Parts: sequence; structure tokens; C-alpha cells
Amino acid sequence: MTDAFLVPPTSNAALAARDLNVLWHPCTQMHDHETLPMVPVVRGEGVWLVDADGRRYLDAVSSWWTNLFGHSHPRIAHAVKAQLDTLEHVIFAGFTHEPAIELAEELVRITPPGLERVFLADNGSAAIEVALKMSFHYWLNRGHGEKTRFIALTGSYHGETLGALSVSDVALYRKTYAPLLLTPELAPSPDAYEGEPGETAADTARRRLLDMRVLLERHAHETCAVIVEPLVQCAGGMRMYDATYLTGLRALCNEFDVHLIADEIAVGFGRTGTMFACEQAGISPDFMCLSKGLTGGFLPLSAVVTTQDVYQAFYAEYASGKAFLHSHSYTGNPLACRAAVATLSLFRDEPVLERNRQLAAHMATRIAPLRDHPNVADVRQTGMIAAVELVADKRTRRPFAAEERRGLRVYRHGLENGALLRPLGNIVYFMPPYVITEAEIDFMVETAVAGIDVAVR
Ligand SMILES: Cc1ncc(COP(=O)(O)O)c(C=O)c1O
Repeated sequence: MTDAFLVPPTSNAALAARDLNVLWHPCTQMHDHETLPMVPVVRGEGVWLVDADGRRYLDAVSSWWTNLFGHSHPRIAHAVKAQLDTLEHVIFAGFTHEPAIELAEELVRITPPGLERVFLADNGSAAIEVALKMSFHYWLNRGHGEKTRFIALTGSYHGETLGALSVSDVALYRKTYAPLLLTPELAPSPDAYEGEPGETAADTARRRLLDMRVLLERHAHETCAVIVEPLVQCAGGMRMYDATYLTGLRALCNEFDVHLIADEIAVGFGRTGTMFACEQAGISPDFMCLSKGLTGGFLPLSAVVTTQDVYQAFYAEYASGKAFLHSHSYTGNPLACRAAVATLSLFRDEPVLERNRQLAAHMATRIAPLRDHPNVADVRQTGMIAAVELVADKRTRRPFAAEERRGLRVYRHGLENGALLRPLGNIVYFMPPYVITEAEIDFMVETAVAGIDVAVR
């Protein structure tokens, strides 16, 4: 126990003790904190987080992939502050406001062609719930009540509310709650890491499209939609795949009359090198789910952008009972919408994607030597996401036993040395804010490399 008389009340130790007394954190076995420090953050500046003792941590994971332009970005902060003085929140049924309208106009402008209607919610999982329900309800309104199921990819992650978790396939999150969930059909992921020897990523994608075709031949009649994370399956281990898959999948969904839901919650807004990952395949989904970077990491908000065809299937006299029914109290919160409008204005006013290409190239150079590391089976990158696969045996790619928690050792090493790295199991990854400098990339990668050396020992 810490001595309350010796510990300053705003120190790491004091705040951590109070936290552990009353709070329960997400994605955490709280028992770990008997040995793992809880980090009380008091300030964020650019890519840096500052704790109560004044120690700094480079946020290599953009605070759960939400932050785009650094912490406390002055332009986004100013927009939120100005909004605070005029309207903090208003019911979004029957009432509207300029921040939401401006945001929707801008989303329609920048998302792929054909996406013209914006439905707002307040977090990523909620956006997935909306897309799943909307797809089901579309088919119902069109006289196809027999379509009640979904197809998802192995290794997918779409959130942790029951619907979103249902279409997710990461055992860590799903297994325990499986008895409560819908049962989607799972199509094998086009993940290039799981490719056959000698196959290119595009070959793997084409082979996996054949699997998808077989599933659709069997299940399209009862299927509302196929849901995917375009290009990178993030929480499933930053598994990356070729854009060919998305192009082929769009064609299959058209052929078999099922919707395509693109979950760009993690990969949208420039992460993969283009504004939206779907652009690299030249496709428009029927639903695009957005969140995380949408507000630059400032406030919770999400959006489902869909087509006029979908919208029109619900547009009818009240008595027809076709209205879409889904509401959250904080839908369209003006503060969050203002943060989003300010975030999107930064993409208009600054050469963000061009700068990201340079940063991504620098990151690629710095992580390349890890390919020769005896415990690294794969180093992969898509734009501003890079990942390193740690294994026990490089030749056979045998993974480390999960219970050894090697990734956690990298995390600990990072904390001790000024970087917030938060591996996914034994996959160490980098997903930093776009304002990172080349020198900061060097520091981030060097810290991770040293952490990996400690972790595999
Ligand atoms: C691809 C994807 N979809 C959905 C979600 C869920 O978003 P949220 O955590 O805001 O519920 C996440 C979160 O990591 C995600 O990565």
C-alpha cells in the first residue's frame, strides 16, 4: 500500500490507487494491475501523452486508433470549444443542427460514389448494429423477410455489442459470449500471411473469392449482407490482404443480390494510404461504417453512409411501418459533429495523404531490418499501419504459446522507455497519429525492437 501522507495527491501513484479502487477498465484483466502500472494521463500533446509524474509516452497506437492529427489539436479543440458556447446537445429526432448537416454533406462528398445518405450513431459498434439492422430491414421492406443472416470473414472484428460481436471472429472476444450470439457464415479471410507457399497476395485473394462464391451459392437466398474490414483486419492481428479481394467481392455481392458492408471504422480517413480503403479497389459498398478517426480522436461519434436505394426502401407513409428503428440518445451530438467537421477540414487544407506516404515510406525503411530477426515471421504494412508477427519458430511460423504473453512484455518495455505500444497478442504494430515526425518514428521503432528483444528472450 502507498502511504497517503507521502504521495502527492496528483502523482501517478495516488491517481492509480484511486482508480484501482473504483474503476473497471475495458479489455483488461484487472488483476494484471497488481504488477502492471496503471498510467494516469494528464495531458496530450501531438503524438505524446504525459502522465501525472511528467513522464512522456509516444502514442504509437493513436489511442485505440482514434487519433489522426495528434492529441489536443488546436483547430479541433477550438471548434469544440466554440460549439460548447452555443449548443452542447439536442434531441436528433425532429430537430437538427448545422454541425450534423455540414458533416453529412462532407461525408457524402468524400465517400465513394453512390453513398449519399448519412445515419449517425455514437460509437463504432453502434454503427455496425445500425448497418446490420438496416440491411436486414431493407430486405424485409423489399419483401425478402427470408434474408436474416450475414456472412463475415474469419479473423474479423467489428465491435463487442452483441450484434457486432456476432459478426466478429476473434476468439478472445467472442468465445465466452458465443451462446448469446447470432451465427453468421464465416468465409476464409484473404489474409496474405495465410497464403499458400509461392502465392502472391493477389493469388490468395482470388482463391478466397472462390470460397466466398461457394458460400454465396449456398446461402445468398438467406443472406442480408457480407461484412468486411477493407484491406486490414485490425483487431484480428493487423492481417492484410490484396485489394483484388474487395473488387471481386463487390462483383459477387451484385451477382448474388446481397449487400456489402464495409467497416472502415479503423481503416478509414487515410490510414491505408487513401482516404478510404475501398478506394484502392475502386468499389462503393452499400454501407460504409465510420467512427474512430471521424472526430480526430476527440469525441465518440459514428456514421453509416449508405445509398439512395437503401434510403428509398424505408421512405413511405407512416402507416406502412417501414421506418428504420434505431436510436441512441446522443445521436448526432453537436460537439462531436463539430470535432468531425474540423477534422475533415484538415484533410481539405493540408496535404495529409501525401505526407502520410512519406511517413509510411520512412516507417517501412525502419521496420525492414526486423525481417531478419530470428523471432519475426512477417513484417507487413498498409499505409500508416505496420505490423510485426512474433513467433517461437521462424521456419515453421510456430507461434509463441499465448499464455507466455510475449506481447505484454513488449508493452511493459514500451512503458518503461516512453512509448505506448500495445501488441495484439504476439503481433507488435504501429498505428501512430499522422503528425508523427521521422525522428519520432525512429524512436518508436527502436523502442519496439528493443522490446521485442526483451520479449523473445
Ligand atoms: C474494424 C472495427 N470495427 C468496429 C469497431 C468497434 O468500434 P468501437 O470500439 O467504437 O465500438 C472497431 C474497434 O476497434 C474496429 O476496429
